[in-house]
Amino acid sequence: MAGLIKPAFFGSLFLLILLSGSCYYDVEEDLYPDTGCDTTGVTYSGVVLPILQDNCYVCHNAASQLGGIVLEGYEQVRLQATNGNLIGAIRGQAGFTPMPLNQPPLAECVIAKIETWINNGALNN
Ligand code: HEC
Repeated sequence: MAGLIKPAFFGSLFLLILLSGSCYYDVEEDLYPDTGCDTTGVTYSGVVLPILQDNCYVCHNAASQLGGIVLEGYEQVRLQATNGNLIGAIRGQAGFTPMPLNQPPLAECVIAKIETWINNGALNN
């Protein structure tokens, strides 16, 4: 007899998990907007440099250097990364002028990748 009850019990348990799973997903989305963002294997040359070239060079290459900030060349980028300016600006933290200037902020996943690179030591990799 017990053998008949068990499958039904586990069946409804499974359904319950399925249903609550869909609700939980929404909540998780709010808490972690970068869910699904792959920050593994982030390198300077492969990920960070192209982001800067696409979004920042127009104002911060060696020739323009608006605001006195140069983001062309690894040493210059490492300087801004390790002194906190880079994240401060792209996250628009208090005391920083939000970057890119007068444009929508970079996508959260893009920021997360730069942050990962910095947290891993801002290596010239
Ligand atoms: C349209 C031109 C423009 C673009 C594009 C731009 N910047 Fe800037 N950036 C400026 C100017 C102008 C300043 C000086 C702002 C100030 O002093 O208030 C500045 C300042 C900064 C600073 C110093 C911020 C501070 O408050 O100390 C950093 C760091 C920076 N930019 C990084 C970036 C990064 C990273 C990008 C690309 C994601 C970027 N910028 C894109 C024009 C630009």
